[in-house]
Amino acid sequence: MGDASPPALLYLSRADVTAAAGSGSDIFVDAVAGAFALHARRETVQPLKPYLRWRPDGHIADRIIAMPAYVGGDRPVAGLKWIGSKHDNPDRAGLERASALIVLNDPDTHYPVAVMEGAFISAARTAAVTAVAARHLARPGFRALTCVGCGPIGRHQVFTLLEQFPSVETVWLYDLREPAAVGLGEALDIRHPKVEVRIATDAESAVRAGEVIVTATVADRPWLPAAWLRPGAFFSNVSIMDAAKDVFLSADKVVVDDWDQCNREGKIIHQLTIEGSFSRERLHAELGQIVIGERPGRERDAEVILLNSMGMAVIDVACAKAVHDRAVEAKIGTWLPR
Ligand SMILES: NC(=O)c1ccc[n+]([C@@H]2O[C@H](COP(=O)([O-])OP(=O)(O)OC[C@H]3O[C@@H](n4cnc5c(N)ncnc54)[C@H](O)[C@@H]3O)[C@@H](O)[C@H]2O)c1
Repeated sequence: MGDASPPALLYLSRADVTAAAGSGSDIFVDAVAGAFALHARRETVQPLKPYLRWRPDGHIADRIIAMPAYVGGDRPVAGLKWIGSKHDNPDRAGLERASALIVLNDPDTHYPVAVMEGAFISAARTAAVTAVAARHLARPGFRALTCVGCGPIGRHQVFTLLEQFPSVETVWLYDLREPAAVGLGEALDIRHPKVEVRIATDAESAVRAGEVIVTATVADRPWLPAAWLRPGAFFSNVSIMDAAKDVFLSADKVVVDDWDQCNREGKIIHQLTIEGSFSRERLHAELGQIVIGERPGRERDAEVILLNSMGMAVIDVACAKAVHDRAVEAKIGTWLPR
C-alpha cells in the first residue's frame, strides 16, 4: 500500500495563466456565474478567511489572507488562494500591491495537483464578479461607467465591463494619482477607440456621472456619500471601505457575495451591524441567490443598488480550475517532480 506514484504537480506562471485563459473575460465570467450558483445551492464549502497581520498599526491593505474553498458540481475541486497585499509596493518597490499563489487539490485524494500565479486570476475574477452582478443589478443598456481607483484591480474592472457591456459609451476615471487614471485612459483609447474616456478632476464628479460605479481604491475610510449616486445607479463597492454608511442605509437594495464573509473585520457593513442599524434581514440577497433566480435583481429603473463583495475563495478556486483545465488541454505549464 502507498507504493503508487503520487500525481505530478503542474506549475502555471503568470504567462502560463494568461496564455491558458486567453484574451477575453468570458472564461472568468462563466466560472464566476457557475460558482455563485453552486454557492447559493450550498454545493460549496468556504471557511472564514484568516487575515494575517503583524503590524498592529499597519495600513488596512497590509496583510496576507488565506482563502480555502471546496467547489462542488460536475467538476469538483478544492483549493486555496494565499494572497499577500502591501499598500506601498507600487511606490516603494515598483511592484503590484497584491501577490498570490493558488493551489488546487484533487477532491478525491486531496493531493495538490497544481500551483499557479494567483494575482492575475484574482483581479480577473473580481472584475467578473462585478460583470455578473451588473447583468442582474445594472440598468440594461447602461452607457456611463465610472471607475475610481485605477490600479490593476480598477483596470481589470473597466476592461471586463467594456467587453461584457458593449452599450457603454463613456468611461469616467478618477484616481488620487492622476497618472494612474491617465494611463488607464490611454490603454482604453487603444483597445476601445470608440469609447469616450473622461478623466475627472475629483471623485464626486466621476461618481455623479456614472450609471455603473466601481471603486477600486485602497481607502481606509468612507468618502462616497449616498447623495453622489444618481437614481438607477449600480455601485460595485470592490474596495469595501469607500461607501459611507448612508449608502448602505439608503440604497434600495444591498447585495453581498456572502453575508458571513462580509460581516466582519470592521468593514462598514460590520460596523453598521454592530451599531444595530443593519442586519442580515435588511440585506436584499447574496448574489448567488439572484444568479439562480431565488431572489430578484433590479426591478425598477430608479433603484440604487449596492454590491458589497468581500471576495470569495469559492470564486478564486472555480476560476483557477477553469484556467487549469484549459492549460492541461493546451499543454501549457511546467510539470514539477513530486
Ligand atoms: N472585493 C474584492 O473581492 C477585492 C478583490 C481584489 C482587490 N480588492 C481591493 O481592490 C483595491 C484595489 O486594488 P489594487 O491592487 O488595484 O490596488 P493599488 O494600490 O495597486 O491601486 C489602487 C489605486 O487607487 C488609488 N487610490 C487610493 N485611494 C484613493 C482614493 N481615496 N480615491 C481615488 N483613488 C485612490 C491609488 O492611487 C491607486 O492608483 C484594494 O483595496 C483591494 O483590497 C477587492
